[in-house]
Amino acid sequence: MNVGIDSISLCVPESYYSLADLAEKHGIDPNKYLYGIGQEKMAVPSPDEDIVTLAAGAAKPIVTDEVRDSISTVILATESGVDQSKSAGLFVHGLLGLKPNCRVVEFKQACYGATAALQMATDMVRQRPEQKILIIASDIARYEQDSQGECTQGAGALAMVVSANPRILNLHRARGMHSFDVMDFWRPNNHKAAQVDGQLSIEVYLESMRQAWNEYKADGGHELAELPWLCFHQPFTKMAKKAFTALTESEPEQGQALTGESYEHSLLYGRQIGNTYTASLYIGLLSLLENNPQDLTDQNIGLFSYGSGSVGEFFSASVVPGYREHLRTEEHQQMLADRQALSHEKYSAWFYQSLADHKNQVMPKLSNRPYRLEKVEEFRRVYGVND
Ligand code: HMG
Repeated sequence: MNVGIDSISLCVPESYYSLADLAEKHGIDPNKYLYGIGQEKMAVPSPDEDIVTLAAGAAKPIVTDEVRDSISTVILATESGVDQSKSAGLFVHGLLGLKPNCRVVEFKQACYGATAALQMATDMVRQRPEQKILIIASDIARYEQDSQGECTQGAGALAMVVSANPRILNLHRARGMHSFDVMDFWRPNNHKAAQVDGQLSIEVYLESMRQAWNEYKADGGHELAELPWLCFHQPFTKMAKKAFTALTESEPEQGQALTGESYEHSLLYGRQIGNTYTASLYIGLLSLLENNPQDLTDQNIGLFSYGSGSVGEFFSASVVPGYREHLRTEEHQQMLADRQALSHEKYSAWFYQSLADHKNQVMPKLSNRPYRLEKVEEFRRVYGVND
């Protein structure tokens, strides 16, 4: 039985900040960000958007009346949680009107969380094929202003329904995991912005990928030559290029046949959005499926997921015939094209407003996405539906 991704949907904030403007603010050559890092824009949430509104906005189009009653489990993967106790997915469960007979949990392991969710969901569906599982990866990547990491911020959510006989992607059984305890990137409980050892994080990411790749092959995975398309976790798009180089160098005979084309289409959305932590790999996958002009039917895709701290996983999937009919390409491309640019003053003001701890606050009405954070009452978050 085939199991995998049956539907997939993206939601990003309505605003972005240009990295050329950030470079000007930092007094450096914009090419460092545009080419050295490989990013053009960072998505910036307004103060009435958070990981819940983005998650519900991503899931809404794919939770159709037909799908709603088959959803047995919601797994929301994030490292930007809004509560230390309550799962953010419960707010989404309420906003989407999911059935009460459903389990809802939150997964955390830096950017890797959604991959754990996807693999566990796949195994659950193999056991009980009548169920569908809703996975949502939603994150807001924040570093201190004027820090080394600021240019790699971003925000967005990606929702997927996992089912038997999926319409978009069949997941393969082989998987290669690699975990070890390292402090390359972390966010202490009382911090809203991430701490990072940037150069170490790059080295650890690449080492994790090499080890996970070896484990994937040992688990009966495909040879590199059998994976014409590749997607890597993309904290910034240059990182995917570094990963491609490291992977092809580790397989000198087979890697030679692969060119940049195998991953370049996977970078197009991420370059316009920035790091979305848990969602980043899957936005790369969506970008490949929606932007590659070639028909990918029955072709294999190799995927590498990385979450600092750290866990890496290499896995693969193949594209289902007719997949294009089930993508929402026009909607996603329009969503990205219609965003508004922010001035540095606005970006900076929203950054600090969003970081504030509110006991009681009515949020200004800024977002026109399907859901928004209306207010906080005695630290209780209250979400509303935009008309
Ligand atoms: P930096 O020190 O500011 O940048 O930090 P740099 O000096 O290393 O330069 C970056 C690149 O720009 C270099 O290219 C330069 O040559 C080039 P490379 O050698 O890498 O190919 N450059 C230029 N290119 C064109 N024209 C110019 C120019 N000047 C320089 N004028 C760093 C960069 C990524 C470290 C920083 O932004 C950072 O700390 N970011 C956050 C951490 C991060 O994203 N790490 C990635 C791996 S860890 C990961 O992916 C997990 C994560 O997503 C979190 C999670 O799991 O939850 C982050």
